[in-house]
Amino acid sequence: MPSLKNTITHKHNMNYKKPLNVLLLEAAETGETSLKRTLSSFNLVALGIGAIIGAGLFSLTGLAAANNAGPAVTISFMIGAVGCAFAGLCYAEFASMIPIAGSAYTYSYATMGEFMAWIIGWDLVLEYALGAATVSISWSQYLTKFLHYFNITIPPQLTMSPWESATLADGTIISGYGNLPAVFIIVCLSLLLIRGMQESAFINNLLVILKVAVVLIFIAVGWQFINPANHIPYIPENIGETKMMNGEISFWAYFGSDSFGKFGWSGILRGAGVVFFAFIGFDAVSTAAQEAKNPKKGMPIGIIGSLVICTILYILFSHVMTGVANYKEFANSAAPVAVAIAKTPYTWLQQAIIVAILAGYTSVMLVMLMGQSRVFFTMAKDGLLPKVFSHVHPKFKTPYKSNLLFAVFVSLFAAFVPVNIVGEMVSIGTLFAFILVCVGILVMRKTNPETPRPFKAPWVPFTPIAGIVVCLAMMLSLPGDTWLRLAIWMILGVIIYYFYGSKHSVVRKNHALQKQ
Ligand code: ALA
Repeated sequence: MPSLKNTITHKHNMNYKKPLNVLLLEAAETGETSLKRTLSSFNLVALGIGAIIGAGLFSLTGLAAANNAGPAVTISFMIGAVGCAFAGLCYAEFASMIPIAGSAYTYSYATMGEFMAWIIGWDLVLEYALGAATVSISWSQYLTKFLHYFNITIPPQLTMSPWESATLADGTIISGYGNLPAVFIIVCLSLLLIRGMQESAFINNLLVILKVAVVLIFIAVGWQFINPANHIPYIPENIGETKMMNGEISFWAYFGSDSFGKFGWSGILRGAGVVFFAFIGFDAVSTAAQEAKNPKKGMPIGIIGSLVICTILYILFSHVMTGVANYKEFANSAAPVAVAIAKTPYTWLQQAIIVAILAGYTSVMLVMLMGQSRVFFTMAKDGLLPKVFSHVHPKFKTPYKSNLLFAVFVSLFAAFVPVNIVGEMVSIGTLFAFILVCVGILVMRKTNPETPRPFKAPWVPFTPIAGIVVCLAMMLSLPGDTWLRLAIWMILGVIIYYFYGSKHSVVRKNHALQKQ
């Protein structure tokens, strides 16, 4: 039991910061307990693209077009990209300045202190671990489709969580036992990550080349079949918005009405919140900072480069998709891209797109699982989590126990939780992390103005403030249940921090030693 004196100290000293010079020394560390620097700038851009292009592009583009923005989903993508660019520039400044594996967690430790760092590290589990779980559930659906081409059928009970049910052709209703293919892919990717970062990066490069090639083919082929009539009107009319413009209702009546978010400009904004999921992942590049050969150059290139490439691909892809088929046809379709392909004579593209989707989702999961283990690796090294998360494999130089533990944790979510619940948790968790990174840049520019910054975010304070505003607006567009789940997860985190992290923190111990 902690003594009363200790308890009081814990209560009053929540704000231990990790000094920047200590972080820079850790970043330069080599040896038995450190990770290996093997990643080139190309690998880092590929890691970013690997984590970014996935379920967001292949599934949500169709939904956002059908329900919110129509052909103007391209503008939703532009807004989402601008929001992410602000946060991306802040991430790039931090990642080149403090090239260590913990990403947003580490930046917060240096700027806002231990408690906020813990909060953000705990929050990143929502982005990375649950991100991998969300995508594995969609992956499982596409695998089932793909196997149908070879007349292989997985029993539907084994591809759903126990909370979901399906109606068979004969009318029988069955519920799921657990999503086995999702568990299978999570375990395989965790084993690959244990085998080595170089091996994982190599496989990731192959997957990225495959998915980007199919996306480019879809754009090139589909472009010839764009029917300009499908793009008219480009911004479908929002009934409430029109009434407001004509003075029939007030702004507040419109804001509170059902038509807010259904087409028009409010639909474009809501669409931006939906397709935000498609951009999640560029920040995972920063978790590999300790494995980059030249992080000062590689980090900004990896983060900004992957974001720019994906934004261009997304805008072109959604322009073609809504041009080839009418946006209304994407409503209720689990595979909207297939609807668009069906309008062209190139039906072989159907199979190619499924392969691209499987490859795309695989690389997203790979990078998310990598990011998760790296964040916990750093938190365990700092004493905020048990040491098991920072054990490095003697031969492969990877945090293998952390990978194994997360294989189990993520598999449980993948097998037993429905996809929409985990998906929204991912968005809210990520937006929260982005906001804290933007705040961190503002703080760091004040506290450490002299520290060399190999990459400087432009137009500070405008960039971080704009990042905070845009991310907060997107957070507010998420449902109340998701906020409640975020609050429960965070309360759980605070309890663990109080009983474990605050007692084992290395920074606190060093601080106490210095005082003696
Ligand atoms: N951006 C990733 C995806 O769309 C998470 O799957």
